[in-house]
Amino acid sequence: MDNGALKAALDTLDKDRAAARERLFELLRIPSISTDPAFAQNCRDAAAWLVADLRGLGFAAEAHATQGHPIVLATDHDSDGPHVLFYGHYDVQPVDPIELWETDPFQPTLIEREDGTSFVRARGSSDDKGQVMTFLEACRAWKAASGRLPCKVTVLIEGEEESGGASLPPFLEEHASLLGSAEVALVCDTGMWDRHTPAITTMLRGNVTEEVTVHGADRDLHSGFYGGAAANPITILARALARLHDAQGRVQIPGFYDGVPDMPQSVLSQWASLGFQAESFLGEIGLREPAGEKAHSCLEQTWSRPTAEVNGIWGGYTGAGFKTVIPAEAHAKISFRLVGDQDPAQIRDSFRSFMAEHIPPDCRITFKSHGAGGAISMPFDAPIYQKAQQALTEEWSKEAAFIGCGGSIPVVGQFKKMLGLDSLLIGFGLEDDRLHSPNEKYDVASSEKGARAWARILEALAR
Ligand code: BES
Ligand code: ZN
Repeated sequence: MDNGALKAALDTLDKDRAAARERLFELLRIPSISTDPAFAQNCRDAAAWLVADLRGLGFAAEAHATQGHPIVLATDHDSDGPHVLFYGHYDVQPVDPIELWETDPFQPTLIEREDGTSFVRARGSSDDKGQVMTFLEACRAWKAASGRLPCKVTVLIEGEEESGGASLPPFLEEHASLLGSAEVALVCDTGMWDRHTPAITTMLRGNVTEEVTVHGADRDLHSGFYGGAAANPITILARALARLHDAQGRVQIPGFYDGVPDMPQSVLSQWASLGFQAESFLGEIGLREPAGEKAHSCLEQTWSRPTAEVNGIWGGYTGAGFKTVIPAEAHAKISFRLVGDQDPAQIRDSFRSFMAEHIPPDCRITFKSHGAGGAISMPFDAPIYQKAQQALTEEWSKEAAFIGCGGSIPVVGQFKKMLGLDSLLIGFGLEDDRLHSPNEKYDVASSEKGARAWARILEALAR
């Protein structure tokens, strides 16, 4: 592959910017919220839009029906280069609280900043449609400029990443011979270190999600007539949840820290060299004090330490006015982020026993699982990581950083376990993209330089 071909692809991307933006806007207008059944047709529409776009690029593409939302699978293997598997997701998070959006979440809006930069505001702009389109635009430019791609490319875009992703593992199994023949997975669902510094994410936390219900009396009760004598499920639940952490921020579930590694000094020093500022990380969201384990830095708290978080809690009367009631039930949703070799099944079991021990004998507690997956780290000294780092460094004229990530991308563990595939986690999101929040946005520079970066990475991997 000569560098003239890469230059032609990069020039094509630069010339095609306006049309690329219009394509992204079309995809962003489809409200593909996977968790809410009311949007199932929109999910099918987003999958169909991607299939049409991929076919237009010359891929053989199909939307495969599943128990849940369709999975888009496409191939273009008309290349002598290595086989790479690209992964992204077309589904998005719900938009509530809708009243906090400054513009309609599904009417993408281009907003110019005073410094001349700009961004697109829309649900899914950063997570993950804007990121998916960076890769498709890079492929489009290669095809337009040279007639073919530098690598054999398989594209897998799912629609349930934000809602449990139950359909994906059986799909991976069914298509294991195609998908597993790739040399590496390119996963575009993470961020840059900052707006000037591209990054390769080398670690993802795992997760365990649990819904618990504490059952007390066999009906809702008058809190005067029974109050004092009858067990209150909300109080019982709140007390148990409050015991999840001690005053040092350590999780109190027995065995919770089994398999949590001490970070090697070399990694801690590399992280220190990134110049992370807890004050600005927390200041940006209106906070000041790192709230996790006191023995670990703020960066470690989000990248390399496990957590227990209550994501929702409800019960009793929460409507207008007041109702003096002792409810029959109280509920909470709790998630754990896992690191190292922490075992999701063991964490789930120990959590359930821990909670059960805090329930009085005449009450009951029941659990519902919402999925789980282990943590994963990438072998980032392998040549493929160095090639990708070099390509990113060339695009930004700034050395690409190797970073951790507090979030979870379940497919990365499944690729490893089911297909033996390592992943290159490269994305162009920024810290202020407001993932999962109102007014999600994606910088135009993320879209444009992201596409140029993929064009370079495809060429670098083919070398
Ligand atoms: N794109 C995110 C993961 C992410 C978050 C990467 C922050 C980089 C920075 C992904 O779509 C996501 O939100 N995943 C969920 C998975 C969960 C539902 C199993 C998460 O991390 O909560
Ligand atoms: Zn995502």
